[in-house]
Amino acid sequence: MFIGIDIGTSAVKAILTDADCHPLGSASSALAISHPHPGWSEQHPEDWWRAVQTAVQALLDQHPGVTSHIRGLGLSGQMHGTVLLDRDDAVIRPAILWNDGRSAAQCLALQKYAPELANVAGVAPMTGFAAPKIIWLRAHEPETYARIHKLLLPKDYIGLQLHGEYVTDPCDAAGTWVYDEAARDWSDALCAATGVQRHWLPEVRDGSAIAGQLTANAAAALGLPPGLPVATGAADAAAGAVAVGAVSSGSGFLSLGTSGQIFVATGQYRAAPGRGIHSFAHCLPDTWFQMAAMLNGARPMSWFSEITGQSVGALLDQAESARTDRLPLFLPYLTGERTPHADSAIRGAFYGLGNATGRAEMMRAVLDAIAYSFADARDAIQAVTPLPSVLLAIGGGSRSDLLLQTIADVLGQTIHRGTDAEVGPALGAARLSAMSVGALTLSDIAAPPPVSAVFSPQDNTRHASRLTAYRALYEALKTVRDLPR
Ligand code: XUL
Repeated sequence: MFIGIDIGTSAVKAILTDADCHPLGSASSALAISHPHPGWSEQHPEDWWRAVQTAVQALLDQHPGVTSHIRGLGLSGQMHGTVLLDRDDAVIRPAILWNDGRSAAQCLALQKYAPELANVAGVAPMTGFAAPKIIWLRAHEPETYARIHKLLLPKDYIGLQLHGEYVTDPCDAAGTWVYDEAARDWSDALCAATGVQRHWLPEVRDGSAIAGQLTANAAAALGLPPGLPVATGAADAAAGAVAVGAVSSGSGFLSLGTSGQIFVATGQYRAAPGRGIHSFAHCLPDTWFQMAAMLNGARPMSWFSEITGQSVGALLDQAESARTDRLPLFLPYLTGERTPHADSAIRGAFYGLGNATGRAEMMRAVLDAIAYSFADARDAIQAVTPLPSVLLAIGGGSRSDLLLQTIADVLGQTIHRGTDAEVGPALGAARLSAMSVGALTLSDIAAPPPVSAVFSPQDNTRHASRLTAYRALYEALKTVRDLPR
């Protein structure tokens, strides 16, 4: 049996699998995000560690008697979050997350000063990545900058709590913007350009390599035996790929979580930073990937649920019967956008509200907007790599038939929902743990999961003109994005 732990943005999720890595159960513990200023996004690493303990203990309570059968643990986590530790491994300040927009000016300056560095880092500098945030901290919090001894990614901070080592995987390394994707090593040029000190950075190991053994303290905190091997694991994009077998060139998927991605694995590194495409190292050797990364994914659904006080399920039911001749348009950019706009200042908007617009129509517009953001992502990624003819959908948003049908209609492409689609990165983490002890091989994990539902494209006429209007709305609204408050 294996345990996979995913440090998500809205929750920590822990799953238990059987010896062949099939999920047996899961437990999660919710996380809050703080927004100290508009566009900022932070979490405290110690909250992640508390949530890991809560989730793993709940998982073990659900499955009494399994602890002696567990052969290892693996990790996955939200990318780009910047965890800063002092000499005593104490957290210096809250982690600045992947969807934090404070370093826009630093990104612009970096791109202007050395545009060629995007080819080394695999992506143009964008807010949310660690390095531009370090430049921001050096200017705005010099006392923080002066105390930095280690810079870790979210899952690697949890790794430190579990086994005491400073280790990351190639994909989380890529998300810092100081990793040389072709050489698969930290880059002196990127460090020099950003003020990141190479000695702050963790050792990079493959996702399926053992990072360390569970210490006595961590074992006591989790209720597990000490000495269990902890796999390095992978950033959530790569761990999601491992969960659905996207580990060889040409295989890919579409992810609908708090963030959204279209991901295609490649056998070679090829930078294509033009339209916000991320060309990153995969967590397994000799493999890279091209990724369109959207900051808002399926999150607008839960956002609309929070502000209307209705459950997502109830809103989806209402959206089924929305009057499609009176739909407004929605822009889903609640926290700005990466692919294709690289625009951290744009925000969400409804346009076209009238006296007759109801909640059902607004929810339907939210679903359309999620699909339109994937149409933009598809166009950006297709310019650099062919997409699989069928896209597998994973993540919490993939539970909705209406959303997956809308995406199929808008993209004109068949979408599959796989079994265990929502488990995603936590399953990838468990699989990497199984690989780390020789219980699974690369070929064991290279097949896509069995398909549980198929969404074939149907009528696209309504969407063609709405997609044009959606794109025009972004162009119009970006001229007033610095909204006076
Ligand atoms: C990918 C990205 C998100 C986060 C949070 O570049 O920023 O996927 O990993 O899920």
